[in-house]
Amino acid sequence: MGLVAAACFAEIGHQVISIDNDQEKIAMLNRGEVPIHEEFLPELLARHSGKDLTFSTDLPQAVRQSQAVFIAVGTPSTEHGDADLSYVEQVSREVASVIDDYKIVVEKSTVPVFTSNWVRRVMLLDGAGADSFDVASNPEFLREGTAVGDFLYPDRIVVGADTERCASLLRQIYEPLTSGAYYKGKNIIPNTTGAPIPPPIIVTSTKSAELIKHASNAFLATKISFINAVANICEAVGADIKEVCEGIGTDSRIGRRFLNPGIGYGGSCFPKDLKAFSSVARETGYEFRLLQEVMSINAEQRARFLRKVRSALWTLKGKKLAVLGLAFKGGTDDIRESPALEIVKSLLKEGCEIRAYDPAAAERAAEVLPSQGISYSKSAYEAATGADALLILTDWPEFAKLDLPKLKAALTYPIVVDGRNLHDPADMAANGFIYSSVGRADVQALTRPLQKNGKLAAATTGKAE
Ligand code: UDX
Repeated sequence: MGLVAAACFAEIGHQVISIDNDQEKIAMLNRGEVPIHEEFLPELLARHSGKDLTFSTDLPQAVRQSQAVFIAVGTPSTEHGDADLSYVEQVSREVASVIDDYKIVVEKSTVPVFTSNWVRRVMLLDGAGADSFDVASNPEFLREGTAVGDFLYPDRIVVGADTERCASLLRQIYEPLTSGAYYKGKNIIPNTTGAPIPPPIIVTSTKSAELIKHASNAFLATKISFINAVANICEAVGADIKEVCEGIGTDSRIGRRFLNPGIGYGGSCFPKDLKAFSSVARETGYEFRLLQEVMSINAEQRARFLRKVRSALWTLKGKKLAVLGLAFKGGTDDIRESPALEIVKSLLKEGCEIRAYDPAAAERAAEVLPSQGISYSKSAYEAATGADALLILTDWPEFAKLDLPKLKAALTYPIVVDGRNLHDPADMAANGFIYSSVGRADVQALTRPLQKNGKLAAATTGKAE
């Protein structure tokens, strides 16, 4: 998020110095390398690096040269589930020690309510003059994979500031977007989000802005768990979750987005932020039980998927499985809290032999997955060759466009368990597959005997009609 925000601030006309204490990361960026898989980021870095966007490890110098200091350090979960704010504290102290004239210090990381008060307090204790700075909250709603588009074409910009001086500086920073000036420029990044132009800016107190971020992520995660729960009922009664989603999502009060059932949410934000928000609530004396339920539905979704795999394959030990997708969602190489990885780990424990393919995340996944029992393929078809079944775990667009006859020819048995509902069950059945997905009835080609090469396939969907 820090790198994307830095590149986007340069794109809308600001002079940006991007600081990190990781020398290797800074050296990489100075060499022109792009450390993460993010659409449009390479273009922005090529356009601005070394000009209005520079990279350095020298925090004091960067702070002295800047009017606004955005803090975008990590806020990981502690073992108790609350956010570890030690990096925020450390950076705030370093900034305090070099402040010489008025600056705003802006929290961009997702932080619990009251963090701005703490930042102000430690900065004062570390010698910053009370009038020499304000602390603001300016949460980001960037999604990985589409972060540049989300920054430049946001649904809204939220600015939490407790003084007019601070709010006015933040308004100026975003003025190229809120006035619409950026969108009239040449060679701009195209609008991939479909958000209204220009975006509205919502100015609130810092505490409200901090809460807006946590509450937004919690609400989106709630939407996903809600639809996963409804999908489970659909499976029990033979209804189709896709039809149900269309029926409820077209109500503009509900909306169609973030209503896709699957193997549960993952990533570096939702799991951590839900725990942190729940912990913040508890500290204020409120037990946010709804969030506990959202988290347990999410965990259960992975277990249900594993049961589906078992019911498609009967026994798991020694089975050869092709796995499509390791990233926590399509469009990114990020594997943090990836439900796909959790499922792969469980299958390896069961003694499955896995051949995995992910367009971007395989290298990172290989660093954290056991080395035994898994190999990595260069394409979906290579992974499928000779496999007893194929599992779809990440919603990469290319997995929705597979050449089905080619896939079927590659597999030993035409069994597909789709954790992301990327395919149409009728189409899968017509192409000769035994197909199970989430919230929809399992299907299998009616005419195809469960027999291959004279051998009886040890596979049944049980519920197939
Ligand atoms: C999220 C928020 O969307 C973003 O606003 C915030 O700034 C950071 O956290 P991100 O973690 O990048 O962004 O991914 P997102 O697209 O929100 O997906 C999160 C998880 O939910 C993924 O595992 C995804 O596969 C899953 N998901 C999403 C679903 O299972 N169903 C859906 O309908 C949408």
